[in-house]
Amino acid sequence: MIQVRKAVIPAAGLGTRFLPATKAIPKEMIPIVDVPMIQYIVEEAVASGITDIILITARHKEAIENHFDYNYELEDSLDKKQKSDLAEISRRVGNLCNLVAIRQKSPMGLGHAVLCAEPVVGNEPFAVLLGDDLIDNPARPCTRQLIEVYERERASVVGVMEVPAADVSKYGIVGGKMTGHGLMEVDHLVEKPRPEAAPSRFAIPGRYVLSPAIFSCLRETKPGKGGEIQLTDGLQLLAQRERLLAFQYEGTRYDTGDRLGFIDATLAFALRRPELASGVRELMKKHLGGL
Ligand code: G1P
Repeated sequence: MIQVRKAVIPAAGLGTRFLPATKAIPKEMIPIVDVPMIQYIVEEAVASGITDIILITARHKEAIENHFDYNYELEDSLDKKQKSDLAEISRRVGNLCNLVAIRQKSPMGLGHAVLCAEPVVGNEPFAVLLGDDLIDNPARPCTRQLIEVYERERASVVGVMEVPAADVSKYGIVGGKMTGHGLMEVDHLVEKPRPEAAPSRFAIPGRYVLSPAIFSCLRETKPGKGGEIQLTDGLQLLAQRERLLAFQYEGTRYDTGDRLGFIDATLAFALRRPELASGVRELMKKHLGGL
């Protein structure tokens, strides 16, 4: 059986929800504490056994590629100033993975972005991780959990979480038969349905492990919601041709594409850092004192 070693990370979006921060820098480079959002995503993939990252990018996104490269001048000058620990922080990011960047030349949707990766993924199963969703589980990264399901069941699998009915219209929603152990045999998917049209309350927060058959499905997928080629619609076609599973992963999810979700993640990650935790607690007390 072919191992899952490639991951596609779509990063071609304009990031308009974070303007003006995203006017001149990619939204993926905005840090949570001091680590750019996309580095958390790449680290999840690497901790899950992925070696090759296929980044789907667009114009003005070069900073992401530079981040995962060495920065010789910086590292050399830090070494010379006896700051090798900082040089090491920089080098470690450069050593995380092999990175291939492919341009999505026009914004035709998430399904189209994934299809852009086909020449590099080829005929292998692969993971997809969306950059706006941080899923925290240091012991068992979400993508690792999905790869384990893929290897055991030999079927494509999407990670799902249960959301309130009022929130189904923010996500791709799956429908099908629960079979126990957090697994569902998926027979139906809808992109951002109205609550009354949702097949369930199980939402896909941006983690997938897919068979390469998804590519022919995406090629046949017509523009859907918002006039874009949706990954969820491609998966609906895949479910008609092959077995597709949904798995209720274990982990805490932060919607870092949303400003409050971003602040939530920032506080949670800062409180976990030994050198920052007590200072952050003091700041929170100070700000909450008058409330
Ligand atoms: C995308 C997908 C959607 C998925 C969501 C997760 O939507 O199209 O199916 O549930 O990501 O964050 P977006 O949030 O990019 O509009």
